[in-house]
Amino acid sequence: MDLHDSNLSMAEWEILIHSAESGEVSEALENVYRDKGNSFDVIFVGGGAGGRFGSAYSQARGLRQLVIDRWLFLGGSCPHQACVPHHLFSEAAREMDYMRWNSDTLWFPKFEEDRASIVDMIELFKKGRNNAHAFMNWQSKEQLDMEYILNAEATVIDKNTVEVNGERFTTKNIVLGTGTRTYLPPGISGLDKAGVYDFATLIDPGLDYEPTSCVIIGGSKVAMEYGSFYQATGCHTTILTRSPLMRTHSLHHVDEDLRTYVVDNMRLRGMNIIEGCTPLEVVGDERATGVRVRLADGTERVIETDFVFIGTGERPNTKPFVDALGIDVDEKGFVKVNARMQTSIPGVYAIGDIIGSPMEMFKARKCGMTAARNISGEPFEFDFSQYPDFLHTTYEVTWVGLTEDEAREAYGDISVIQMPPKGIRNEEISLPLAEGSMLYAFTRPELTGFQKAIYDNKSRRLLGAHHVGFGAKDAFQYLDHLIKKGITIDEMGEMNELFLNPEHFIQLSRLRAGQEHLIDL
Ligand SMILES: Cc1cc2nc3c(=O)[nH]c(=O)nc-3n(C[C@H](O)[C@H](O)[C@H](O)COP(=O)(O)OP(=O)(O)OC[C@H]3O[C@@H](n4cnc5c(N)ncnc54)[C@H](O)[C@@H]3O)c2cc1C
Ligand SMILES: NC(=O)c1ccc[n+]([C@@H]2O[C@H](COP(=O)([O-])OP(=O)(O)OC[C@H]3O[C@@H](n4cnc5c(N)ncnc54)[C@H](OP(=O)(O)O)[C@@H]3O)[C@@H](O)[C@H]2O)c1
Repeated sequence: MDLHDSNLSMAEWEILIHSAESGEVSEALENVYRDKGNSFDVIFVGGGAGGRFGSAYSQARGLRQLVIDRWLFLGGSCPHQACVPHHLFSEAAREMDYMRWNSDTLWFPKFEEDRASIVDMIELFKKGRNNAHAFMNWQSKEQLDMEYILNAEATVIDKNTVEVNGERFTTKNIVLGTGTRTYLPPGISGLDKAGVYDFATLIDPGLDYEPTSCVIIGGSKVAMEYGSFYQATGCHTTILTRSPLMRTHSLHHVDEDLRTYVVDNMRLRGMNIIEGCTPLEVVGDERATGVRVRLADGTERVIETDFVFIGTGERPNTKPFVDALGIDVDEKGFVKVNARMQTSIPGVYAIGDIIGSPMEMFKARKCGMTAARNISGEPFEFDFSQYPDFLHTTYEVTWVGLTEDEAREAYGDISVIQMPPKGIRNEEISLPLAEGSMLYAFTRPELTGFQKAIYDNKSRRLLGAHHVGFGAKDAFQYLDHLIKKGITIDEMGEMNELFLNPEHFIQLSRLRAGQEHLIDL
């Protein structure tokens, strides 16, 4: 369907995507300047976060770009199956948690677990997600003037040729951004049984029954976030994790005090967390009835459940590109690139999840931009080794910079400012009183969060910040920048906080900034 000369409104886009989704429209949706021919400066294979942002940047730099996606929309997995549903579920988890702690007090109704349905939330998401998809298609065409072909698989023929529905397009450069999918560890049998889901199959085709319990395999972000949501709905959840939670290699700079607060609070909400174990098999005939696991002490047991959820990380499918182009990949299949996103084949770039960790939106988008800058003749390197990070439980957990242990090891003479202060139990103090926890201050002080800032005493520079609570995520994006710029405790004390939270990093720093030799607070 050639959409080049039509100016679909947002609402029309949404209807079109719904029709294509239901199979009424099966052809490709294209916005291509056919009068300019089939040759491009750059073709983006995959229009996810990386491909869309790279395309926008290329277009802005005067390159003729084409982006191809097999889905009906640009934007990729994030708004379709990954980040957006995760944020919806995490917000729901937080709301349900709040309702539970306050159940039948003040004006709060009694929390009715029967109404907390996982299936309902999935349906809600699926009904609404095409609005975001419509927006990205609309914006990419009407505001960003990007050329694209959607609902069509791209096949890379060679480093200058990409085929779509039998038609060949030539290009000076190719950018690979086809993302990843859930890794199913070969050592765990039975993962193909009914009742076993991952973040993608949970949405498409979707969970079609209300589970009575859940067993999660994996112990990183996906496991913690989805597990916290399931538990909040009343679906009793067990996490089977090999490494301690938040100690997987994909998460760096996780402070031990922060980790303890987070994991203790997951347990406080009733989650069963089994660390140091080896999941072996999903048991059951055709349908999962449990997971057989070897515990840390070497014994085996079966944990019964009607819902198994996999959070064992991601892998790309790069074989077609290796076959067609001979690009170098690592032992897990991730494409090897340099800091300019160049692969081993000149003129071929790779961006986003397909190049490996960290698999986060900022990286995918900025990889796309980096490839575009280099293709447009502007040498540019992207260092994503240090970045602010977060995950959700029923809390928002955010961190940036060094942990206390890392800072002590690297700098020796450091000071730590934290709330609750060391030696004071969370139950004893209704602080840090993170945004949205004012009621807890007067009912359950131990639920009001945790925070820590670390300074180098010699340079007085902020080395790291760690927060459990709500409402701090935005601040951490800027703190990351300020840490890289070398912000000191004195400059922190000069900042103007919006009283009340989560401004403690500023006001607590100010309380210590007068000292010549800093000490803990
Ligand atoms: C459950 C979950 C939650 C997440 N939450 C967050 C979060 O809160 N914050 C955050 O920063 N990150 C989050 N992430 C990570 C984030 O989703 C990814 O880092 C990001 O989407 C990667 O973008 P990408 O462009 O590399 O790949 P994708 O967005 O996956 O895009 C790849 C695109 O390539 C297309 N494609 C594949 N093969 C072909 C082909 N042959 N032809 C045409 N098109 C093709 C696909 O259709 C897809 O649109 C989450 C990930 C998961 C799994
Ligand atoms: N920003 C966000 O909020 C957000 C949210 C969700 C996902 N994401 C991103 O999406 C990606 C996927 O997340 P993820 O949590 O699935 O993956 P991940 O961070 O790569 O962690 C994989 C988990 O699976 C475990 N695992 C792997 N193989 C296993 C096996 N054979 N047996 C038992 N356990 C095994 C790992 O254990 P070990 O530690 O022992 O190896 C680890 O706990 C990550 O890169 C993440 O950053 C981001």
